[in-house]
Amino acid sequence: MIRKLVSMSLVLPALLLAGCEVGTKVTDQVGYRGAGLNQIALKRTLPAADVIPEPLYELTPEMRQGPTAKQTYQNVQVLGDLSAEEFNYTMAAISGWVAPVEGENGGCNYCHNPENMASDEKYTKIVARKMLQMTRDINANWTPHFSLSQYAGKGAGVTCWTCHRGQPVPKYNWSAALPDPKGIVGNKHGQNAPAKSVAYASLPTDPFAALLQGKNIISVQATSAYPSQYVESIQKTEKTYGLMMHMSQGLGVNCTYCHNSQNFASWSLSRPQRVNAWYGIRMVRDINDNYITALGKVWPANRLGPAGDPKKVFCTTCHQGKNKPLGGANMLKDYPALKGTPHDMSAPPAPPMDALPAPVPVAAADTARPAA
Ligand code: HEC
Ligand code: HEC
Ligand code: HEC
Ligand code: HEC
Repeated sequence: MIRKLVSMSLVLPALLLAGCEVGTKVTDQVGYRGAGLNQIALKRTLPAADVIPEPLYELTPEMRQGPTAKQTYQNVQVLGDLSAEEFNYTMAAISGWVAPVEGENGGCNYCHNPENMASDEKYTKIVARKMLQMTRDINANWTPHFSLSQYAGKGAGVTCWTCHRGQPVPKYNWSAALPDPKGIVGNKHGQNAPAKSVAYASLPTDPFAALLQGKNIISVQATSAYPSQYVESIQKTEKTYGLMMHMSQGLGVNCTYCHNSQNFASWSLSRPQRVNAWYGIRMVRDINDNYITALGKVWPANRLGPAGDPKKVFCTTCHQGKNKPLGGANMLKDYPALKGTPHDMSAPPAPPMDALPAPVPVAAADTARPAA
């Protein structure tokens, strides 16, 4: 009996300890040793591998010769300079990415009246034309978002699949939240939902309407110890944090993937990925303002959110829990038609590196830090 008790007293704690170990952890050191810039994740919660569709057939150099789409068809406004063959190749790919729906309104018919391919009678075709312009603009003019960091740089870019993944409306989107009911009952003051949009934190559930469209300033940190000129409201600060929670969740990373927690505002202490993210925020605003919202009344009522605005893009739309969408796969290389020509119209602005406060004095041991 006693021997049994003794052996149980040995086994039980071991069992309890085993209960705490809920899964294998994976760690990734992303900064200087000792700086705590580590990414720790539970293996079982890592997002599943992505589906990456292969081209239906190979686009050969010969297929890119010959009469252009503009010469061949009647109403081609964006892709007119492609050869008719490359045009058809691109149409076939788009159908599979956006509208692989069954039935007589699926495939080509999702956007076309099969009796008259040149007609713009279906709103989906008008939207698709705008989306073609948008995708070409993203790939031509927002390259700093894709290629700045030392780890990226392969120029992955985006296709319709990056957002759509075989669905007419991308799975991850946002639209403005309805205003809270008046009075105390049911009024959560836009927070404490808790909402998935801000990783279940007690933060405003919709930081996007304020920060992922338009031009509002995101930085909130004062530049001196007792600021008198530069004071931000708590509500605005919370929106900035809400956006940061979304960005971390959307990319499947921690704050230290971009920031050095010694000083969140300092650019010189941040990782290069924070610059990618800075361009990412501006790119998302460009997408939302100049393409999706700009379509205005083209969107039918069943495509609008509860407050009457269309469904828009945030980091998760493309990233879906990964620091690189689709695990870094470069689908764009097979679809040259989706890369436009760079133009000055929306040349991305430069991050405000110099306008920001100088980094706080660093400890002596830290001064050997190589330039980032
Ligand atoms: C997601 C929407 C969408 C789908 C699906 C789609 N198309 Fe298109 N199609 C467009 C748009 C947008 C244009 C106009 C492009 C432009 O203005 O540069 C177009 C134009 C065309 C034209 C030129 C017609 C003319 O005379 O002006 C042809 C031909 C065509 N598509 C064929 C196809 C075929 C074949 C399929 C199925 C394999 C298909 N499309 C699927 C959106 C779509
Ligand atoms: C950056 C993300 C993104 C990319 C890239 C993108 N789209 Fe979209 N697209 C959206 C969002 C978000 C909506 C939904 C808007 C809504 O429903 O209010 C949408 C809606 C559409 C619709 C309307 C579908 C419907 O049933 O109402 C079509 C058609 C479409 N996109 C075609 C395309 C094509 C073609 C491409 C590639 C040339 C493309 N999209 C690339 C984000 C994207
Ligand atoms: C993917 C990169 C990335 C991640 C992850 C990230 N941030 Fe940020 N953060 C940025 C960028 C970029 C800015 C500057 C935004 C701007 O001004 O447009 C910023 C700004 C901030 C600011 C404002 C600094 C100032 O100038 O006032 C704070 C505070 C902040 N982040 C906190 C956090 C916290 C807390 C987390 C984790 C929950 C986090 N961030 C996660 C990229 C990131
Ligand atoms: C239209 C799709 C799209 C949207 C929207 C988008 N990204 Fe990206 N992002 C990409 C692609 C593609 C890459 C490059 C991946 C590669 O190099 O393989 C990238 C790369 C990055 C990187 C560099 C990752 C690394 O590990 O080097 C960061 C950081 C980043 N994005 C942050 C953001 C943030 C923050 C947002 C939202 C404000 C955002 N992105 C929105 C498509 C997108």
